[in-house]
Amino acid sequence: MTTAIEEYKSGLSFETIWEKIMRYGREGWDQIEEQDIHALKWYGVFVRKQTPGCFMIRVRVPGGILESGGMRSEQLRVLADITRDYGKDIIDITTRQQIQLRWIRMEALPEVLAKLTAAGLSTMQTGFDNIRNVTTCPVAGLSADEAMDSRQLVKELNDSIVGNWVVANLPRKFNITVSGCCDNCTHGEINDVALMPAALNGTIGYNVWVGGALGAWGTQRSVSLNGFVAPHEAVELCHAILAVFNERGNREKRTKARLKFLLDEMGLDAFRAVVVDLLSFPLRPAGVELTREHSHRDHIGVHAQKTDGMHYVGLNVPTGRLKLDQAYELARLAEVYGSGELRMTTAQNVIIPHVSAEGLEPLLAEPVLEELPADPMPFMRGLISCTGNTFCPFAQIETKERTRELAQYLDASIGRKVMESVGVLEIHASGCPNSCGNPHTGQIGLIGKKVRVDGVMTEAADIYLGAEHGMLGSFNERWKTGIPFAQVGPVLKELLTDFIREREEWEPFRQWCIRAGHIKGELKDFAPMHKDENVPDLFKRASGMEPQ
Ligand code: HEM
Ligand code: SF4
Repeated sequence: MTTAIEEYKSGLSFETIWEKIMRYGREGWDQIEEQDIHALKWYGVFVRKQTPGCFMIRVRVPGGILESGGMRSEQLRVLADITRDYGKDIIDITTRQQIQLRWIRMEALPEVLAKLTAAGLSTMQTGFDNIRNVTTCPVAGLSADEAMDSRQLVKELNDSIVGNWVVANLPRKFNITVSGCCDNCTHGEINDVALMPAALNGTIGYNVWVGGALGAWGTQRSVSLNGFVAPHEAVELCHAILAVFNERGNREKRTKARLKFLLDEMGLDAFRAVVVDLLSFPLRPAGVELTREHSHRDHIGVHAQKTDGMHYVGLNVPTGRLKLDQAYELARLAEVYGSGELRMTTAQNVIIPHVSAEGLEPLLAEPVLEELPADPMPFMRGLISCTGNTFCPFAQIETKERTRELAQYLDASIGRKVMESVGVLEIHASGCPNSCGNPHTGQIGLIGKKVRVDGVMTEAADIYLGAEHGMLGSFNERWKTGIPFAQVGPVLKELLTDFIREREEWEPFRQWCIRAGHIKGELKDFAPMHKDENVPDLFKRASGMEPQ
């Protein structure tokens, strides 16, 4: 049975969609037919009922790092200029390392898209049934802590996707992450395909994980496909998986259309066998994982780069929302103190690489770093927030301002103690169960809802606790439901005060949450964790090899 949406999609192509954009640009947004709202998303154009007549534009930034070797300052300036001239006030950094611009008028669309293209920026295939931005470690090629530099693979993968209609009409959206970093900083566990660093018989490459997803239609961590690919085999492998998904994924029921459902239906072994049949090389069994067991790093702060005596500086952008003047300042700082390159993280933050030792002190003293600090307090540092009801039609609550205030409150009340005891505690917030703010992967997760308090509908949240990092870690679990947002701060403050007081020195947050009876789960022996193992030791243990 062909559904209406599949029938509609089968009549689309990049050319027909572009014609629609041009036509609506001439005729006006009120002429847009209902179904064409979806078509515009192939070009990164999103209708927003909160901004009538104006659109959100999503800019694809592979790995948070652009082709030219980084999100260069001049590209950030173009984004800021577009916002200033055609949009309004703010630039959002997303958890897939992309950029979202707001309030772009329909008639300006052709001009805006042309300006982005001229700056080497693409909006293609950033929405609907497409392969979303390929994420990677934002300090790829810089970090002393990486197994390999993933940038070339991300570029090749992105080039094989963008403009390729064969993978532009999938049963549903599809997320890929490629990580050369041993700290799982892009959360491989929630992607449809995660290529994670591994070693096999003297080769450094990627183990293949599949089927991760979050959201109201079911959360599932990715599972190992028991496959290892060398970097030069990885693009072919991804396209083989996509071909199977394209052909066999569920096109009758969108709520059952993500890859994880196909894996459930076929079984992992049968799925692997069909993928292997499509490959021109034998798929080797999984190698030894090089991802640290319970690790996750945010790359905030000042860090030495691996080879050249330079530094990268990770700056905290509260809730990922940049004001225009901050965006212009970041572009200037990247030019004055770095090489002009800028990178974005999956935690909605920004990195300025290639800062010399002499440049560090004046950079850290720049006034804008009071707003975008390199040494943030722990709750603001760990905060991720989705868009919320300011712009998102699905939102139950406002998120960005509420969570910013929440982080400020917790930082002011117990931030110092948290910093001294565990460093950071992440709060990941979503304005509804769709979970775009990854609420299951932060140690504290918030999912917005409305509850009735004294007969009045009030913005509230379900609170989740205890996510454990790592590919074999755990999502967090629901602790309390429907807490009016005004009470979320005091409720968390009380909980975290107990945590700081009661935890054993070695004890991670999840373990304490289980021991204290706040969530169910298995108590593990964390004492000998490999958390502090350095990369050379990790390699030697895993493979007997020295890192590249
Ligand atoms: C049916 C389920 C979902 C719906 C309807 C949905 C809807 C949306 C909407 C409307 C936005 C843009 C809001 C704005 O900024 O104006 C958005 C952004 C986003 N969503 Fe979702 N979402 C869903 C599930 C998910 C899931 C499960 C994830 C992954 C955890 C996710 C990740 C994202 C990300 C990362 C963004 C920012 C844009 C980007 O970089 O791709 N979404 N989503
Ligand atoms: S989680 Fe809900 S409110 Fe937040 S961006 Fe996604 S759909 Fe919108």
